[in-house]
Amino acid sequence: MSQILHLTSERCSLVIKVDRNAEIIHWGNRISQIDEDLLLATERPVSQARLDVDVPLSLVPEMGAGHFNAPGIEGHRDRSAWAPVFKVVAVEQGEQQLVFQLEDQTAQLLMSVNIELDYATDVLKKQVSITNIGEQPYQLGKLSCTLPLPQHAVELMTFHGRWSREFQTQRLSFSHGGFMQENRRGRTSHENFPGMFVGSKGFSEQQGQVWGVKLAWSGNHQLRADVKSDGRRFVQAGELLLAGEVVLEKGESYSSPEFYGCFSNSGLNGVSERFHKYVRENIVSFPVDKPRPVHLNTWEGIYFDHRPEYIQEMATEAAEIGVERFIIDDGWFVGRDGERTALGDWYLDETKYPDGLEPVIAHVNKLGMEFGLWVEPEMISEDSMLYRAHPDWVLGLEGYHQPSGRWQYVLDLQNDDCFNYLFERLNDLLTRYNISYLKWDMNRELVQPGHQGSPAVHGQTKALYRLVDQLLAAHPEVEIESCSSGGGRIDFEILKRTHRFWASDCNDALERQTIQRGMSYFFPPEVMGAHIGPDEAHTTRRCHHINMRGMTALSGHMGVELDPVRASDEDKAGFKRYIALHKQYRQLLHSGRSFRLDTHDERQHVYGVTDENDLLITVCQLAMPDHALPAPLRISCVEPDARYKVTLVEMPETSFQLMKQRPSWLDKTLILTGDNLREVGLTLPILDPESALLLSLERI
Ligand code: DGJ
Repeated sequence: MSQILHLTSERCSLVIKVDRNAEIIHWGNRISQIDEDLLLATERPVSQARLDVDVPLSLVPEMGAGHFNAPGIEGHRDRSAWAPVFKVVAVEQGEQQLVFQLEDQTAQLLMSVNIELDYATDVLKKQVSITNIGEQPYQLGKLSCTLPLPQHAVELMTFHGRWSREFQTQRLSFSHGGFMQENRRGRTSHENFPGMFVGSKGFSEQQGQVWGVKLAWSGNHQLRADVKSDGRRFVQAGELLLAGEVVLEKGESYSSPEFYGCFSNSGLNGVSERFHKYVRENIVSFPVDKPRPVHLNTWEGIYFDHRPEYIQEMATEAAEIGVERFIIDDGWFVGRDGERTALGDWYLDETKYPDGLEPVIAHVNKLGMEFGLWVEPEMISEDSMLYRAHPDWVLGLEGYHQPSGRWQYVLDLQNDDCFNYLFERLNDLLTRYNISYLKWDMNRELVQPGHQGSPAVHGQTKALYRLVDQLLAAHPEVEIESCSSGGGRIDFEILKRTHRFWASDCNDALERQTIQRGMSYFFPPEVMGAHIGPDEAHTTRRCHHINMRGMTALSGHMGVELDPVRASDEDKAGFKRYIALHKQYRQLLHSGRSFRLDTHDERQHVYGVTDENDLLITVCQLAMPDHALPAPLRISCVEPDARYKVTLVEMPETSFQLMKQRPSWLDKTLILTGDNLREVGLTLPILDPESALLLSLERI
């Protein structure tokens, strides 16, 4: 007997038709009520020269039911039960939640599908679980979450990247065939960020219907978007399981990672602002509700050259420019004089620090700053005491020699002795020293991820979560940054147990503009580590004036990544100014609604944040402007009837190459109504390439 179920949120509806199986028939704008005739109205015809029955795009599409695209489940029990077909046996409906119980008695499998729609943010969460009730083990090959989309979702925006170039986007047409991304790197990866957007024709920052999806998982994954030959389409994501990786004994279950989705009628901005709100309310939790402290991280300042007196001098300068948390990066532990040695030996190097770490920490604390320390717990160097004692702790496969990465190997976290050693070392560091912050790095991919001969990315990923959780349970006041050669482990699941991401090793402000913009589609600014780097960027050798560097770091979780002792006076004054500016607007930046505006010049980024009263807008000219004059900045996110005090807060101080005469309003305060700002706009100065300005709009 068919029925229709309906979940609603503030602006969104999810309508599910339940028959033998269940099928989402609408995920989009909110519907006030479901008509009785909707069941009939949504009955599909059966097309000629195909199967004789209609095949629903069910919650977990089944090959055995006649779904010829990627199925939601794959597996077998000693070569049987490989084409299961489930039927719904129970549905529980809560206010914002539906739980479906399904079974296939022939295949001896139970399935449960949990769907939640968050009222305030419209964010949908789906998770699927499978239980083996047969006597023989069930070899699970795949269990993914599928979400259907309407036929007018015709364009994709997907992500790609590499080290120092994370979060790059590309647009693809989505009419036939589809898109598939497989991540086999064993960490979330720079290359295969597990999220994407699908939208109506020409969707943009501010316009169009857009569906955003994001898999919460830090290991291997498959993410795809498919158009069936009948025109129906769907997105699907799940863990990519290696052969034999998950074997369910009788009574055992496996749950997929959570798959998040969000629909908006107002372009990419609509989706990203809801994801941000959801992350703030449901994913990230800070031990203490306080402003995000401004960082100084020592890496690009001194690398492995650790001299405590000098580091203390750096700390003194750091405090002087306004830094609030001082982090000693790689190089502090015994034998770590370069990147080839010592990972695993998490004991202080007493030759570098003969008086211990305590005097440095005391100095940092006395200056009013918190202290943080870098670790890379999952790794081991061949040249280390740990490797010499426990070569068998390496995650690998006997009989093979796997390639190292950054001259290091991965530890097998499912080995209890290894897990306990790591916990003991980290726990000791956090107990012994006054450490408020760990920068948790992870600098290589998993090549032969074997635990006792079996594939182990799944187990390794779960064990990592367990290690972090156990450590935070013992030290709940500590914050953790997820770093992985920059942005190699940025995802919702790791963010449930960490507090900040190192977005990229690339501190080149020009590259960072694109990286940070890509990241901003899913993550709010306060979890995006953004640092002012040295004037010459270490990854690109490109040089930037402090205006471009400061303005680019300003709207994330700000920091500096350099040696302030050696910085020029001009630079130091710049660090101080941009840090002060960041602090002035930090509350708004880290709690407001972030947006990006569509621009007619693709070489210009315009983005900002608002709390419904005040707005802060950055205009960054990435390259030579497309035309001699910039287009007026039409600000759509102001209230049409409200009045605003408009001021220029920041602009490059250097002379302008492209502008002979400045608009006179730059030196004044303007009073403008919302509809003037929305429809006529504000005429901008002509910015030189690689420079940025900051505008403030205060509602009066
Ligand atoms: C890679 C990180 O991304 C850098 O920020 C730095 O911490 C180095 N590792 C240290 O080895």
